[in-house]
Amino acid sequence: MTGTLRMNAQVWVLGGTGRSGRSIAAQLARLGLSAVLVGRDANRLHAAAQPTGSETLPAPSLAAAVAEIRQRRPAVVINTVGPFTTTAPEVIYACRAAGSHYIDLANDVAAVSATYEMHDAAVQAGHTLVTGAGFGVTATESVVVKLCEGRPAPLRVRVDMVPSIAMEEGTAGEALIGTLLGSLHGRRITDGRLVPARIFGDTVRLTLPDGSQVTTASMPSGELLAAHRASGARHVLSATSEAPSSPLIRAMMPALSTLMRWERLRSFTTRHLARVRVEAKERPREHSWGHAVVTWTDGETREGWLRLGDAQEYTGAVPAEIARRLLAGEGRPGAYTPAAHFGPTLAESCGATYLLPQSGRQ
Ligand SMILES: NC(=O)c1ccc[n+]([C@@H]2O[C@H](COP(=O)([O-])OP(=O)(O)OC[C@H]3O[C@@H](n4cnc5c(N)ncnc54)[C@H](OP(=O)(O)O)[C@@H]3O)[C@@H](O)[C@H]2O)c1
Repeated sequence: MTGTLRMNAQVWVLGGTGRSGRSIAAQLARLGLSAVLVGRDANRLHAAAQPTGSETLPAPSLAAAVAEIRQRRPAVVINTVGPFTTTAPEVIYACRAAGSHYIDLANDVAAVSATYEMHDAAVQAGHTLVTGAGFGVTATESVVVKLCEGRPAPLRVRVDMVPSIAMEEGTAGEALIGTLLGSLHGRRITDGRLVPARIFGDTVRLTLPDGSQVTTASMPSGELLAAHRASGARHVLSATSEAPSSPLIRAMMPALSTLMRWERLRSFTTRHLARVRVEAKERPREHSWGHAVVTWTDGETREGWLRLGDAQEYTGAVPAEIARRLLAGEGRPGAYTPAAHFGPTLAESCGATYLLPQSGRQ
C-alpha cells in the first residue's frame, strides 16, 4: 500500500476500480477527505487512484479486504461490490468488529432488508450502517421524506426513478449484472406487507418537469423498502424508467425470473452477461429524476420531484457526503437508508433540487 494509514481517519472504498468506486473517490477528494481505494488488481487500482491522488490497498479478494478492515480499522468503509446480498454481511461484521461505519450502494430488496435487520446489533456496537446510498434509493426516498415531513402516515406511495447516465465503453461487470439478475422477482407493499407482484407492470407515462416524457414500470428495489419506512404507508410501489418497454420482454419476465432463482443458472448468466462489451454513450437527457406521489386517507395527494444531473455522479456524491457527515460525528448508531437518517437536506447537499407542485385532492 502507498502512504501511511492513520487508524480511524480514513474512508475506504471497496471496489475502488469500478464506475461507482471512482465516482466516490472523486467526490471524497472534492470534500477534502482522505480516501483509500481497495481492489483486486494493483495496476488498475493505481490507474483509478491517479486522478484524485487517493491511496491504494490491493487485496486479492473480498475476504482479504475484510481481513484488512479488521486489522486496520478505518473510520468509514464504503462497499461498492455487489451483489450486496453476498458481500454486505461479511463487510458489516468486519466493520462491527473494527468499530468502522459502513455505507453501501445496495438497490435490491433482499440486501436492503438484510441490512435493516442488523439495526439492533449496530446500535449495540455503536456504529452506523447506511444502505442504499446510490442514486435510486436516495433520490426517491428523499422526495418521500420531503412530502411526508410533519404529516401522518399516508395511505399510498408510488416512487419512480428516472436515471440519466453517460456510459463509458467497457463491460457491464459482475457486480452490476449480479445485482440486476437478483432483482427480477416482482414485489410490492400491500397492507404493510411485502408481497409478490408482477414485475414491469403498473406502467405510467410521466411528464417530467422539463416537459419531456418517459414511461416507468414497477420493479422491486431498495427504493420500495426505503419509501415504505420513510412514509409508513400501507401500500407502496417502486418503478423505474429502466424497465424494458418491449411487450415481448415483459411477457417473458415471469419465466425469466423463475429461471433466475436457480443459483447455478444465475451465476452462469451473470458471468456471461458481465463480459458483454457496451459502447460509450452520452447521457440520454440533461437531468436524472426521483419522483414520488403520496396519497393520504382523506384523498389529499402530493407529488414531488428531485432533479439532479448524471445519476452515476450522484452515486459518487451521496456516499461521499454521508462519509463526511459520519466523520463529523453526525451519525446515529443503527441501520438506515440515507434520507431516513440524514433527512431531505442530504440530497440538496449532493447538488439536487426539489420541485414540489401544488398538492391536490382526488
Ligand atoms: N443504489 C444505486 O442507485 C446504485 C447505483 C450504481 C451502482 N449500484 C450498485 O453498485 C454496484 C457496483 O456498480 P458499478 O457500476 O460500480 O460496478 P463496476 O463498475 O462493475 O465495479 C464493481 C467493482 O467491484 C469489484 N468487484 C467485483 N466483484 C468482486 C469480488 N468478488 N471481490 C472483490 N471485488 C469485486 C470490481 O473489482 P475488479 O476491478 O477487481 O473487477 C470493481 O471494482 C452494483 O451492484 C450496482 O448495482 C447501485
